[in-house]
Amino acid sequence: LKILIKNIRGLAGVVDAADNRKMLRGNELSEYHIIQDAWLAIEDGKIADFGTMANWPGISDWRDLEVIDAEGRFVFPAWCDSHTHLVWAGSREVEFEDRLRGLSYEEIAKRGGGILNSVEKLRSADAAQLIEASLERAYEIIASGTGAVEIKSGYGLDLDSELKMLRVAGEIGQQTPLTIKRTFLGAHALPPEYKNDKQGYIKLLVEQMIPRIAGEGLAEYIDAFCERNYFDEKDLSVILEAGVRYGLKPKIHVNQFSVSGGVSVALNYDAVSVDHLEILGEGEAEAIAATDTIATALPLCSLFLGIPYTPARALLNAGAALAIATDFNPGSAPSGNMNLAVSLACIQMKMLPAEAFNAAARNGAAAMELHDTHGSIRIGNQANAFITKPMPSAAFLPYYFGINPVERLILNGQII
Ligand code: NIG
Ligand code: FE
Repeated sequence: LKILIKNIRGLAGVVDAADNRKMLRGNELSEYHIIQDAWLAIEDGKIADFGTMANWPGISDWRDLEVIDAEGRFVFPAWCDSHTHLVWAGSREVEFEDRLRGLSYEEIAKRGGGILNSVEKLRSADAAQLIEASLERAYEIIASGTGAVEIKSGYGLDLDSELKMLRVAGEIGQQTPLTIKRTFLGAHALPPEYKNDKQGYIKLLVEQMIPRIAGEGLAEYIDAFCERNYFDEKDLSVILEAGVRYGLKPKIHVNQFSVSGGVSVALNYDAVSVDHLEILGEGEAEAIAATDTIATALPLCSLFLGIPYTPARALLNAGAALAIATDFNPGSAPSGNMNLAVSLACIQMKMLPAEAFNAAARNGAAAMELHDTHGSIRIGNQANAFITKPMPSAAFLPYYFGINPVERLILNGQII
């Protein structure tokens, strides 16, 4: 199948074929190219060519060609959501109400709720139920323009349940057109059976879970929740050391509620990304900027929990590479809506629309190591793009917030 989209009001996120920077950092995030009055040709699942309507070569071969007239609409590269916990069982609106009555996320966790609530639900769910519930969310994010997604484990916290979660995540990659990457987050919390034996659980992670999961190729990345009452920076070193030995690259939850030494440990292990960073310690923005590690902000989590937003301007001023992701999960961000995340990045984090678009697509792709194929409109890239509803400008997308701006989506060169 070939697709030609013509009369595009603005073809956004265009990148020159010669530009093979893995990611954009600091000022570079404002480099965002939009071709006005454009066409885009897709062939064999890839972006074949594009240009302005004034220089449109016309159609010489109509065979297997689908022509879309995008009059008045924009085309964007599909979002790359580099941090989610998309596979889960049940829901946690009871805790949501508890928080509205005044309890904090941390207090709820101390009472055995929070992550452990989802662990209980996930352990008792069978794989078929889990696939069904997770597929529904996968189609939801597709409908809102996401084409690639990272999915973490971490609600199983025992070998069999973690394997179950990662296999379900794999099914999402098989059964939907989403490009997926998987992350082993065994160190998300201490499971109830190891409540008073953190070292015992870390031993289980290091000696059994990591080797088995890496051995079966069920994850590309390793994650840990580095936070007070969870895993500290010493635990993080031990876990990352083991992960890296088995070929899992780090993507770390750090500085959500408090500053630990976790950022520097993650940087020492060449983390692909450090995520959350609602609180930044002295010198941490500069330390991140000095590396290839991507800082990932999760504005839907900040909105939902009422915690600070990641200081994007400080990170960008320091020259760091910044990505935006949803954190889609049942406890701290029950939304996988990248459009809303982009709006919040502008409204609350003072990112300009161009910066937010780059953070949500190009740098999101880099935070999943998909930068060679995803996150931009570049010849040869996988054809993952969405056509918006009619809109006057690209900035209208984050400005007119809270609706779904996506009218049609193309993934792998197929109209979804
Ligand atoms: O990224 N902070 C740790 N993990 C998730 C929340 C998990 C949950 O509450 O279920 C997060 O916010
Ligand atoms: Fe998370």
